[in-house]
Amino acid sequence: MSGLIQLSGLLPVLVSLLVFTLFLKVNCESLRVSVVSLNGVWALNNSNNSLSLGASVPGCVHTALQNNNIIQDPYYRFNDLAYRWISLDNWTYTTSFSLADSFRESRRAVLVFEGVDTVSTIYLNGLFIGKTDNMFQRYDFEVAELLKDVNILNVVLMSAVTYASERRQAHTAYSVPPECPPAVQKGECHVNFIRKAQSSFSWDWGPSFPTLGIWKGVRLECFESIRITSFVTSPKYDIALSSWTVEVELFFDVVVASKGIVLLSVPQLHSEGKFQLSLVPGKNSTSFVLQISQNITVDLWWPFGHGQQPLKELFINISMEGGEKLHAKRMIAFRTVELVQDPIPDSTGLSFYLRINGQPIFLKGSNWIPAHAFQDQVTADRLAQLLISAQMANMNVLRVWGGGIYEQDLFYSLCDQLGIMVWQDFMFACALYPTEQGFIQSVREEVTQQVRRLKSHPSVILWSGNNENEAAIAANWFFIAPDERPRYLKDYVHLYVDNIREIVLQADSTRPFLASSPTNGVESVKEGWVAKNPYDPNYGDVHFYNYFHDCWDWRTFPRTRFASEYGFQSWPSLSTLSKVSVSVDWDFSSNFSSHRQHHELGNQQMLIQAKLHYILPNNTDPIQRYRDNIYITQVMQAQCVKTQTEFYRRCRSDIVEGRGHTMGALYWQLNDIWQAPSWSSIEFGGKWKMLHYLAVRFFDPLIAVGVEDNGDFLIYAVSDRNRDFILKATVKFYYWNSFTPQCSLESEGTKVKGGTATLVFARPVSELLTNCKNCTREACVVIFDVSDPENGVRSPSNYLFLSSPRDAEGLQKPKIKFTVEDGGDRFKVNLHCSSPALFVWLDAEDIPGIFDDNGFLMMSENYTVFFTKWRLTNLKEFVAKLHITSLRDIY
Ligand SMILES: *[C@@H]1O[C@H](CO)[C@@H](O)[C@H](O)[C@H]1NC(C)=O
Ligand SMILES: *[C@@H]1O[C@H](CO)[C@@H](O)[C@H](O)[C@H]1NC(C)=O
Ligand SMILES: *[C@@H]1O[C@H](CO)[C@@H](O)[C@H](O)[C@H]1NC(C)=O
Ligand SMILES: *[C@@H]1O[C@H](CO)[C@@H](O)[C@H](O)[C@H]1NC(C)=O
Ligand SMILES: *[C@@H]1O[C@H](CO)[C@@H](O)[C@H](O)[C@H]1NC(C)=O
Ligand SMILES: *[C@@H]1O[C@H](CO)[C@@H](O)[C@H](O)[C@H]1NC(C)=O
Ligand SMILES: *[C@@H]1O[C@H](CO)[C@@H](O)[C@H](O)[C@H]1NC(C)=O
Ligand SMILES: *[C@@H]1O[C@H](CO)[C@@H](O)[C@H](O)[C@H]1NC(C)=O
Ligand SMILES: *[C@@H]1O[C@H](CO)[C@@H](O)[C@H](O)[C@H]1NC(C)=O
Repeated sequence: MSGLIQLSGLLPVLVSLLVFTLFLKVNCESLRVSVVSLNGVWALNNSNNSLSLGASVPGCVHTALQNNNIIQDPYYRFNDLAYRWISLDNWTYTTSFSLADSFRESRRAVLVFEGVDTVSTIYLNGLFIGKTDNMFQRYDFEVAELLKDVNILNVVLMSAVTYASERRQAHTAYSVPPECPPAVQKGECHVNFIRKAQSSFSWDWGPSFPTLGIWKGVRLECFESIRITSFVTSPKYDIALSSWTVEVELFFDVVVASKGIVLLSVPQLHSEGKFQLSLVPGKNSTSFVLQISQNITVDLWWPFGHGQQPLKELFINISMEGGEKLHAKRMIAFRTVELVQDPIPDSTGLSFYLRINGQPIFLKGSNWIPAHAFQDQVTADRLAQLLISAQMANMNVLRVWGGGIYEQDLFYSLCDQLGIMVWQDFMFACALYPTEQGFIQSVREEVTQQVRRLKSHPSVILWSGNNENEAAIAANWFFIAPDERPRYLKDYVHLYVDNIREIVLQADSTRPFLASSPTNGVESVKEGWVAKNPYDPNYGDVHFYNYFHDCWDWRTFPRTRFASEYGFQSWPSLSTLSKVSVSVDWDFSSNFSSHRQHHELGNQQMLIQAKLHYILPNNTDPIQRYRDNIYITQVMQAQCVKTQTEFYRRCRSDIVEGRGHTMGALYWQLNDIWQAPSWSSIEFGGKWKMLHYLAVRFFDPLIAVGVEDNGDFLIYAVSDRNRDFILKATVKFYYWNSFTPQCSLESEGTKVKGGTATLVFARPVSELLTNCKNCTREACVVIFDVSDPENGVRSPSNYLFLSSPRDAEGLQKPKIKFTVEDGGDRFKVNLHCSSPALFVWLDAEDIPGIFDDNGFLMMSENYTVFFTKWRLTNLKEFVAKLHITSLRDIY
């Protein structure tokens, strides 16, 4: 894991680059569109006026109350319950703004709300101008007639909880379950009746903060003849011409019929095209197709690990007959994407994989949830830190999960730059949804707008209608009586197929659409969109969770075509928890520990799974025991997800009893929304859990996977490389009490084709042990890798336990000593250990940064790791905060 990006230096550069180059910059003056930003501090009051304060827009009520010191950190201890009143009250945002005559004399004036959270009635100068009820929509209100010198704008927000409950009460014909979340989530009810982040009413990893606010920007746009409302670019490969084209769609608001000339150009590809523009009054759109010259080699955009991510500038220059001009620019990238579902020899099912630029790609990554309950606090730095962390762990994909939000523009721009593909869900999750006219209309507008907004991003490779709603009907999660099932099936098809799918197919031919996840894909379609078993490993993608099976036993995992969700919980570190808790909370049986756990029996499940292989902490000092418990849950999670991910990667090439050809492994979940136990590999605040450090290795483009199968020890070489290698396995056996390998074997070289999992080593375990002096399963561990010395290629070192560490013989309490040297951007930590140590864990408390290796097996006396700082800190602070733990230290 050497050669890590120097994140501290890169972050500001990357973010500023994106902000300044990737966004559409429309020079509005020349089109005579005058824009007045209404962002800034507004007045905010609650319904009985007991509170009135200043509130930032964009923003939300909770953040405003906290910034005004009216409430504490809402994440602190039990505040999610203490502050429930905020979400039950109604709140009014008010601002005033003055306008010069020129604005008031404009023919058209449109108030643009990029995003209101969620239910509001809006007044300008005391007159009603419109309502909002969908957080995922942009709202434009015509206000030309109402403008004055000084204007008062009120946004009266109604409690989302009250609204959802009212909608539920009004829906009398039949129920639309679930009514409420499980009690353990301490959440609010009927979230499926409101178009708002579904997780804001609580989730099994997150708090209930049904926010209210104006969560995106507000502005006034004044114009005389036309304005552009959207600008969409879609590079497409034209097979007939065997060349690239770029389709450019423009959406207009037109006051008077106008004509003009549009010039499109991609100077880096020497391509240019001139088009006539003719607009009629009203909302109008037009599209042009720019041919990229055939004799130009277009360098393609590749997922991370498969090539570069070249982005090119596309310019659009419009000249209207009246002399108005408009210039805009957008970064574009060239890639194709296909979802392949073809028959497989020796299998009854169908394949399920993504082909990018004609090449099958194994999707490696995780699932993304909202990075904060209060989106106004998701800064560019926080986003970049998370996405860069994903890329550092060799991920090439994130699934933007359907219970959160369509992410902000910067998220997708960063993914474009980093080569992280985005599997984009529509925002429906784990519920049935109403389908009356108003709801459907609102969803249609939401989908239309979001597809338009996100379509230009090369990183977005797939749309998916919802999270787990096909499964919810198929497995009858909500106990629907058999005679009522047809109604719910019909509603399902109406929402996701007749509406969402229809809009997506019409608006976007550049990426595939799936109705749900998990789904059987075309097989689900055949079965009427809800398959008998959407978890069928022979088709489509699978979500798989089992906390009670031994996670080290790969036989318990489904040999699926594509694993889009799987995982295990762990607790975040004490330094993260201590931001929101006090010492009485630091016990696994405290009220706080059960309060933060939103997954039924979650705390017990973690320890039950851990106990299968490790001795649980028994320190008599309660706080040390708490730290150790956190540590062991992270060890358990890391090792479980490692085993499962390695299984999916090694199933890439084989078909066993009709199953296999696995082409995706996205564990649940990348990030956290607050400081609590969850399935994440990155804690709230950006600190990596042990799992994330192990992901760097298990997602490496070339790995050695060791398994036991019927008494044989097998090593598979799994390669995501494009080229072939001759790989040999190096296998070493160590006693738990010695740094010297007892024996060492090397296999013959085996040809491993790029993009395959190939068996390179197989020997009976008993034979290996007998031949290795006195080795036994309990006394020895096997360490191995694969390499092609001629080409200078070597996988990360891997290990296999032949028995549980709880039964390890000879494993001693290691004495780990360290010295630290200051190396500018990073600290150099020299470790010295008295005997082999397992899961060596370096924890620098709350100093932001990452180690270049962590959670490792220390099988040599000396080892050096580097800590890259994400903020300035000094050696003294670092040394004071650095804790080192290994498995043998906790009992
Ligand atoms: C406070 O909010 C209510 C509505 O929630 C509104 O009627 C009232 O005018 C507001 N008061 C002030 C001072 O803005
Ligand atoms: C006004 O509203 C606040 C917040 O909901 C509540 O705590 C308070 O009791 C109310 N005051 C009156 C006089 O109703
Ligand atoms: C909030 O507004 C709704 C709709 O007007 C009303 O039914 C409810 O009583 C109000 N809640 C409060 C706390 O004023
Ligand atoms: C643009 O205007 C033309 C002519 O009125 C109309 O046929 C077309 O549907 C409009 N397009 C859109 C997207 O509104
Ligand atoms: C190839 O592209 C160049 C621009 O780089 C252009 O000048 C030339 O005419 C093109 N040739 C053909 C055969 O299209
Ligand atoms: C198009 O607009 C860009 C500014 O966005 C400008 O640099 C470029 O020169 C213009 N091209 C033409 C042909 O006018
Ligand atoms: C096995 O271990 C025993 C006791 O430690 C030792 O006497 C013997 O020499 C060892 N045998 C081999 C083959 O290493
Ligand atoms: C480990 O480091 C110590 C101290 O620098 C040194 O004395 C020792 O020789 C090193 N051991 C190995 C095996 O390199
Ligand atoms: C903890 O457990 C270990 C192993 O079972 C034992 O050796 C040790 O004495 C125990 N410590 C305490 C404080 O109970």
